[in-house]
Amino acid sequence: MKKYLIFGIMICSGFILHQACSSPNNTDKPTTVIINEKGKNVFKTYCILCHGADGKLGLNGAMDMTQSILTLEERIQVITNGRNTMAPYKGVLDEAEIKAVAEYTMIFKTIE
Ligand code: HEC
Repeated sequence: MKKYLIFGIMICSGFILHQACSSPNNTDKPTTVIINEKGKNVFKTYCILCHGADGKLGLNGAMDMTQSILTLEERIQVITNGRNTMAPYKGVLDEAEIKAVAEYTMIFKTIE
């Protein structure tokens, strides 16, 4: 009886080890950068005028986006409701478009 128990434990631990070793290791996978085409298109159409293609233009006192420290949520706020000379885009863009373009503006931080 005891023999069977030990045999059973061996099978179980063998199975666990096998699972642990064959489980995919996600940290080794190369990270894919998904280009936010929707946000890019919205930016090109509505924002480039003042902010420039690289976000640095700063026309009419528009800020250099590469220096912006705003979070995604705060950007969505500024784009939706406007701020000082920047017009609100509430009626112009829908929520998904505003979110996409806000996400797109996050990439300027990485441009020197
Ligand atoms: C008419 C010119 C103009 C256009 C067009 C414009 N902006 Fe702006 N934007 C500004 C100005 C000016 C400011 C600075 C506002 C302030 O002084 O409070 C600003 C600020 C911002 C900020 C805040 C940055 C920060 O760090 O505080 C974000 C984000 C932003 N704009 C995104 C956009 C997006 C996205 C679009 C297109 C949907 C857009 N802007 C279109 C002029 C413009």
